[in-house]
Amino acid sequence: MDTLHTLITEEEIQSRIRSLAEEISKDYEGKDLHMVGVLKGAFMFLADLVRAMRIPTTIYFMQASSYGNRQSSSGEVMVRHDLVLADKHVLVVEDILDTGLTMNKIMDDLSLQTPSSLKLCALLDKTEGRKVQVPAQYVGFHIPNKFVIGYGMDYAEQYRDLPYIAYLEP
Ligand code: IMP
Ligand code: MG
Repeated sequence: MDTLHTLITEEEIQSRIRSLAEEISKDYEGKDLHMVGVLKGAFMFLADLVRAMRIPTTIYFMQASSYGNRQSSSGEVMVRHDLVLADKHVLVVEDILDTGLTMNKIMDDLSLQTPSSLKLCALLDKTEGRKVQVPAQYVGFHIPNKFVIGYGMDYAEQYRDLPYIAYLEP
């Protein structure tokens, strides 16, 4: 049986999202912003983030998977999308940066489409886990190197529905 320990409460998440949305709205004022959520982990974050924004946005999704049911990155990343991003201002929205391998692959892939600008917003950053450097212009929270679930993030497809973020202890 797994025990859940709350790491970030629903109130803390929502409050941080309001400031991120304010910052992003200011930075992209007067521009058409195209937000790309990385499925499935970022679905909840993207939904809350766009509702807190002051500027209109266009929303897309893409898929990236590397994990399977294990708690560590396999390093093999599969990217799937049908995006057309040439000359667009693109902000990729991700749940969590760990090794950076997933985001590195995604950013490489999307930059081939020559967007006008390409930036990254990650809700969580496990800085200690980094194997490749990926610049993230917007980060919600820096967290310790623990496996977390909830608020879109899963362990073997469980716990995505929780409104808060917790870590698992066996
Ligand atoms: P990276 O390639 O190691 O940076 O891993 C990034 C991806 O792995 C994220 O987009 C998540 O989908 C998943 N991931 C990394 N750490 C966790 C975690 O603690 N809980 C749930 N998913 C995670
Ligand atoms: Mg992810």
